[in-house]
Amino acid sequence: MALRRIAVHFYELNRAMEIASFIRSLPKAELHVHIEGTLEPEMMFDLAARNGIDLPFATVEEVREAYEFSDLQAFLDIYYRGAAVLVTEQDFFELMLAYLERAVADGIRRAEIFFDPQAHTERGIDFSVFMGGFADAIDAARERWGISAGMIMCFLRHLPGDAAVDTWNLAAPFVHRMIGVGLDSSEVGNPPEWFAEVYARARSAGLHAVAHAGEEGPPAYITGALDTLRVERIDHGVRCEEDRALVERLVRERIPLTMCPLSNVELRVFDRLEDHNIKRLLDRGVRVTINSDDPAYFGGYVLDNFVATVEALDLDRNDIVALARNSIGATFLPDDEKAALLEELAETGAALEPGAPEPTQNEKG
Ligand code: HPA
Ligand code: ZN
Repeated sequence: MALRRIAVHFYELNRAMEIASFIRSLPKAELHVHIEGTLEPEMMFDLAARNGIDLPFATVEEVREAYEFSDLQAFLDIYYRGAAVLVTEQDFFELMLAYLERAVADGIRRAEIFFDPQAHTERGIDFSVFMGGFADAIDAARERWGISAGMIMCFLRHLPGDAAVDTWNLAAPFVHRMIGVGLDSSEVGNPPEWFAEVYARARSAGLHAVAHAGEEGPPAYITGALDTLRVERIDHGVRCEEDRALVERLVRERIPLTMCPLSNVELRVFDRLEDHNIKRLLDRGVRVTINSDDPAYFGGYVLDNFVATVEALDLDRNDIVALARNSIGATFLPDDEKAALLEELAETGAALEPGAPEPTQNEKG
């Protein structure tokens, strides 16, 4: 009996490793990651010591034990406190470079990365400090590892729309280093319509637009983000399923959803990963993608999110390739760069799976 159990254990281990290396080998994009959410406890301690900042934790283990969240707000309280250890340009550089190195290890070829300027300007840190550090790290990573990255500036929705406009004005000298704007922080009670003005300005400056919607908030916030903010992607969007017409619209208009399965379980959006709706939406033809959100807080980077989701929802290789394809298709890369990555994905996906069936409809483009 014991031997049989060990044999089963090794079979499963081997299978999990095979799935992980298959996923790692596929070119992919990460479209939903908050750079401040990639601050690992070890780096948090190093930076706190370097900058003379007191942390309410004695050890790295204590930090990890504190990462037990009842909802989004409980997480955000800890997330903003963690971000306060970031002070110098070098700190922001190291944070960004560490994330990009980690992303490369997961087979990420393009990352479109959120940052929260108001979490820093409210502490008296100047735009030039974090933008300088982020931009240098992105340039260094492209040179060292070939990864392509762009920055998306998020407005904190628990602060007023006017504060977002003030932030936009402060950002003016750095807009050329951004690819888009986004909206994050406490969702419920802070509807997208409050940010119409700042989004209109960002769009007329040529930036792309995305917004968190339907994570904890109602489907009406997804509709509001699409109609009022004119966003091109929805971040999370899990609650779209409560509005049948909205799901049909997402399919028809090919609106990508940047989903974050481990985050949703950690923040109690779903009780268990087995309950997540990503597979159901994929099968309905919604352009869903897998991302990490705040990997240092939620127990995993993109590959961890993929592996856990594949296991929990019994995704097959076609599903995995479809998710990778959706991620590349949903980037803000120029068409020729997108096409090159998609072609590489088709070759890799096919090479690794001899005799694989033709892609299904929801995998295309
Ligand atoms: N949701 C909203 N705001 C956030 C998140 C999130 O998951 N992570 C960082 N800011
Ligand atoms: Zn997020």
